[in-house]
Amino acid sequence: MVDISANLSGIHFDSCIMNASGPLDTTLDELVDIAISAAGGVVMKSCTIEAREGNPSPRYMDIEWGSINSMGLPNLGYKYYNEIVPKLKSYGKPLIASIAGVASEEYKKIVEAFNSSNVDILEINLSCPNVVGKPQIGYDFEMSEEIMNVVGDVSEKPWGVKLPPYFDFIHFEEMATILNNTKISFIVSINSIGNALFIDWNSEKVVIKPKGGFGGLGGKYIKPTALANVRKFHELLNKKIKIVGVGGIYTGIDAFEFILSGATLLQLGTSFSQEGPPIFERISKELCQIMGKKGYTTLDDFRGKLKVIE
Ligand code: DHB
Repeated sequence: MVDISANLSGIHFDSCIMNASGPLDTTLDELVDIAISAAGGVVMKSCTIEAREGNPSPRYMDIEWGSINSMGLPNLGYKYYNEIVPKLKSYGKPLIASIAGVASEEYKKIVEAFNSSNVDILEINLSCPNVVGKPQIGYDFEMSEEIMNVVGDVSEKPWGVKLPPYFDFIHFEEMATILNNTKISFIVSINSIGNALFIDWNSEKVVIKPKGGFGGLGGKYIKPTALANVRKFHELLNKKIKIVGVGGIYTGIDAFEFILSGATLLQLGTSFSQEGPPIFERISKELCQIMGKKGYTTLDDFRGKLKVIE
């Protein structure tokens, strides 16, 4: 029998594949659909102190090999997500709250609120690219460190950070040094590639309204960048810091490659948005088939064991 279960911060996931914070996870109904699917866990939409309507539409577009979005953090506010924890936990799966903010006090307040809930894990989002006038925190290393120190001081739950993609080894090294000195138990890598531009050449127009058409790129475009981030952090982080891989996972082969690069758990963003909840069962089955063919019975058999050309 092939086993694709995984463990993060002492929490058991029957399957290593779940949703990424973002698509189809804002309301209780959407989250229940994930909870009753074959997803290994449930991740909630990144929440802020106050509920937000987000940016004007059109703000999400499926494009040739993925998606572009500038949602602007539409969410129902942290109190809503805190209140629905018992209902979502009744489905028996690990539940992850995603927290967004612009300042460390906001993160602190929301983390404290979730401390007294039954949520299993906190994902601290340092990488939303779509709030007008607010830079992605993950590109400001000092600010990222300050937020991680505050969260480390107050969180009574296992927690990790969702990072933007990095593109230069010096930035990986700088962030990894900070991460290795915090109480973090995982990273989620990567968020969308921020501020991309997609053009409809026919109409000579951008395809989303906010920010003049600039938005976060997701889907197949970003898989090589996501794999590079998972791999580089796997090389640089203390082995007790686990990696949740996300970015362009559409098939069992993609899932296999992320684990081979060093990921422990996997999240689906654009592909889940496009295919809906049945995707979890499809990719799980495909991953099991690949493992079966290769004679692997657990993810540990090949995790991180990517070969290089000597
Ligand atoms: C949004 C986009 C992100 O990539 C993210 O991490 C959080 C929020 C958004 O636009 O809603």
